Amino acid sequence: MSLPQALPGREGGFARVLVCRGCCCGTEHKHPDVDHDAQVEALRAVARVRVVDCVDECAQSNVVIVRPGDGRSIWFGRILDETSTAALCEWLADRAATDIPDLLAGHRFERASVAEAATTVFLRRPT
Ligand code: FES
Repeated sequence: MSLPQALPGREGGFARVLVCRGCCCGTEHKHPDVDHDAQVEALRAVARVRVVDCVDECAQSNVVIVRPGDGRSIWFGRILDETSTAALCEWLADRAATDIPDLLAGHRFERASVAEAATTVFLRRPT
């Protein structure tokens, strides 16, 4: 499966994507077999991409956050090969408006810090 090239007239795409490139995501040190630049370029062909610093989910690197424009932020981790990148690009080419493809479902995760925050609030004793 090959990664997409920029679509004529569609540069910038529609869905917004945050691509983590912090201390772990996007590094050759942690993921030497991934062409990180090619991954970002492929995503830029189908979406508005912003490269961001560490989003505190390093165990899930490479992390990509999709914002389809309906208020959701959908977190994907371990986007580390051409297959998962291509599946993400195909979904983004449809503005991420369809159900998450099966191939990506296993990459989706709930942000740990959000779960921890919810648990903390839930377990906090009244003072
Ligand atoms: S570097 Fe991406 S989550 Fe930390």
